Amino acid sequence: MLIKQNPNGLDRPFASEITPREVYEERRKFIARMAAGAAVGSALWEMANREAFAQGVSTQNAAPVQKLAAKANPAFSTTEPQTSLRDATHYNNFYEFGLDKTDPAENAHTLRTRPWTVAIEGEVKKPLRLDIDSLTKLAPLEERIYRLRCVEGWSMVIPWVGYSLSNLIKAVEPTGNAKYVEFTTLADRSQMPGLRSGVLDWPYVEGLRMDEAMHPLALLTVGMYGQVLPNQNGAPVRVVVPWKYGFKSPKSIVRIRFTRDQPKTAWNVSAPREYGFYSNVNPKVDHPRWSQATERRIGEDGFFKRKRDTLMFNGYNEVASLYVGMDLKRFF
Ligand code: MTE
Repeated sequence: MLIKQNPNGLDRPFASEITPREVYEERRKFIARMAAGAAVGSALWEMANREAFAQGVSTQNAAPVQKLAAKANPAFSTTEPQTSLRDATHYNNFYEFGLDKTDPAENAHTLRTRPWTVAIEGEVKKPLRLDIDSLTKLAPLEERIYRLRCVEGWSMVIPWVGYSLSNLIKAVEPTGNAKYVEFTTLADRSQMPGLRSGVLDWPYVEGLRMDEAMHPLALLTVGMYGQVLPNQNGAPVRVVVPWKYGFKSPKSIVRIRFTRDQPKTAWNVSAPREYGFYSNVNPKVDHPRWSQATERRIGEDGFFKRKRDTLMFNGYNEVASLYVGMDLKRFF
């Protein structure tokens, strides 16, 4: 942040910087009116769009979206206040559609999510190619309200719809050689303008160790807020791994491969010092360029709003047993 210094070296402002009282009082009133207007505006947006979403109308591109019936799973859900639908669908990382947070909502309408097939292959006895409907129906859908903590230092609380990834893993019967699961996501230049940028070596690839992928919290995700996933959130299928930084939750998956060796993941390949394979949320292991001790909950903005303390494993302590005996500074 640039902090402006007073060049006269005094702690008094220059005379020319003093604003007459009537001007600044009018300005204050104006700012207060603007702030109130913005708050009402965003509350109205939220009401209208949650309603539209509930009726099957998309928040983007006027494309119809489908409702997804799902049973709430309170045992796997936080009771913290949910992030607004607006923020969850307009503050995104999906570099295939641009680098700015607002780019995915603006650009992802070019993604064609049907027909869509996911190949599940590699070290398995029963490889499968599933279209998105069969994949969605493979196990009963649940709604789980998870915290998602991004490596950049912000977090959200989102009601996801999906089922434990372990259901799919069991269906393909991994062989004894399967030690890892690799996820490859779509990379199609005709649909994804962001692929022109060299920020990553496309396609976006992520991976988990088998026991991580089998943990019931790892969610194969096809919806959010009771609807199919909006394109910018990774339609038609993504994974959400709530105890890891958000980049371990790959979007728009086309291939799931079981491997003997640790997958070469996109962020680890592009910046190995900054993004490790594990990437468990860990307030004690800083990113080389910033602290990971605290986070900003999206929607709780405000200049004086205190950041939240980041919790080990993002608060999902039930996964701690997966890492017993590992030096989590080395395996970051
Ligand atoms: N998946 C793909 N294919 N491409 C991406 O750029 N970004 C990741 C992850 N999955 C990303 C991705 C990052 S950095 C985050 S924080 C989450 O998606 C954001 O998910 P959300 O936009 O649904 O909140």
